[in-house]
Amino acid sequence: MHFFSEISFVIFICFVTISRAKIGFVKDQSVDRPFPPIIEKSYTGIPDGHLRPLGYQRRAEKPIASVQQQPSPHEFNIKYVLNNKPVNFKGAMLDLPVMELWDDDQYLKDTYGMINMTVIVRRGRAFDPPKKMLFKKYLRDYMYDDWFISSTIPQEMMIELPLPPFLQCGSYKRRLIETELWMSSGDLSSKLHSHEYHDLHCVLFGRKDMIFIDNQYQKSFAFHEKFPNAGAGESDLDMDMINVFKYKAISTTPWTYTTLRPGDCVFIPSGYPHQVRSYGRSVSFATLFSPTKVFDSSDCQSPDLADKDKDKNATDDSDTKSPKDKIEAAKEKEKKLPNLSNVKFVWTYTGGERRLTMGTMKGDDLRDLLLLMMRDQDKMTYEQFEHFYLEIIDDPSLPTAREAFDLLLVKKKKKEITRTQLEEVPSTALYKVASIFNDVHKKGSRHDEL
Ligand SMILES: *[C@@H]1O[C@H](CO)[C@@H](O)[C@H](O)[C@H]1NC(C)=O
Ligand SMILES: *[C@@H]1O[C@H](CO)[C@@H](O)[C@H](O)[C@H]1NC(C)=O
Ligand SMILES: *[C@@H]1O[C@H](CO)[C@@H](O)[C@H](O)[C@H]1NC(C)=O
Repeated sequence: MHFFSEISFVIFICFVTISRAKIGFVKDQSVDRPFPPIIEKSYTGIPDGHLRPLGYQRRAEKPIASVQQQPSPHEFNIKYVLNNKPVNFKGAMLDLPVMELWDDDQYLKDTYGMINMTVIVRRGRAFDPPKKMLFKKYLRDYMYDDWFISSTIPQEMMIELPLPPFLQCGSYKRRLIETELWMSSGDLSSKLHSHEYHDLHCVLFGRKDMIFIDNQYQKSFAFHEKFPNAGAGESDLDMDMINVFKYKAISTTPWTYTTLRPGDCVFIPSGYPHQVRSYGRSVSFATLFSPTKVFDSSDCQSPDLADKDKDKNATDDSDTKSPKDKIEAAKEKEKKLPNLSNVKFVWTYTGGERRLTMGTMKGDDLRDLLLLMMRDQDKMTYEQFEHFYLEIIDDPSLPTAREAFDLLLVKKKKKEITRTQLEEVPSTALYKVASIFNDVHKKGSRHDEL
């Protein structure tokens, strides 16, 4: 059984490699998989799950928490965020218009076809660098080709995607970094990785299985941080073929899991290693927000009050309004549902480019931005700053990341800046750096107008 599936796997790989990205038939869209996997004892002396996907080496501990009710912002923070606890909010998004509309690729093509998206092409087991492609071209071929979308969500699409209640107010609403669209067809498997920010990942279509590994077991997977204080990390191991002879500790590493179906949202804490498998026509979106030790939800209405109000209005409606009025009211309510366009993210995606939402920054705006990127840490390393800087600045005639970082430091050439130091940098010094970004932004928008 194992042997046979390994052979067919090898044949499959050869086929993909020979035929490159083009496959002449629609990829397998089935979403029926046993998960967690059933482990068959090996009696051959070969350790369980050798050269099999992650999860076959040892039985799962348990599923992660799974709840039907969405918490208040305060409860969300206390129960899950501060406890570093992944959780699956089942059915958090059912009955939304987008769950019907986006089921139809023709709708997506008609509505968003002319938007340039960032598409990743898979070649065998490797990935090409992301490339720009019109959404309609992607939609025409993604059922056949080995490519998928992982992109900051274009502004035009945000109005259709809901913002969960617990991000609608409180500190996290003010710490939103960006929101990403994921779209693929057929089986797709990620590396074991973690994100620098907290992630709320919501599935609209298809199925996603996730495996979670506690941070204390990083070593089992030769997991490494992307750069000092990045917060994000990854393992280079092939998650579809674990070599148990080489990575013995995986056989004894406990893991938890969850399965996401349409309407479910999973919270993945910042820095928490996880591995994702997508099946079928898969569409999902992730909302990233920055960790903080100081949480304030004083701008949130108390849930009790809100409920009472709702009940009162609902009774009013049924007593006095005609059915037609009720439908109109429902439509109106729908329009008022908070969606992703109602809040501000650090990054947006317009004209096929990911860019800072804030076009022109003052010195203090840059300070706020850098403090968000510091997450809940007490410092920002030079590498963190450099990573951010190079995402925006790629013009060799402008100051280097090192020169820009030095503008913020009292002592030049230091490797990091602390939270207190950053809070005390004079606005004028910050403005010198902000104006480098502002110039690039101005050039960018001139270019757009051509
Ligand atoms: C999409 O990107 C291509 C390549 O950069 C560009 O030539 C084209 O004008 C863009 N189209 C739209 C509608 O933005
Ligand atoms: C209920 O109706 C009142 C008055 O029309 C309005 O001010 C209030 O915001 C409504 N509450 C909810 C929860 O819709
Ligand atoms: C999203 O929010 C905007 C701004 O409040 C609103 O105009 C729009 O109707 C909403 N979109 C949907 C699809 O509900």
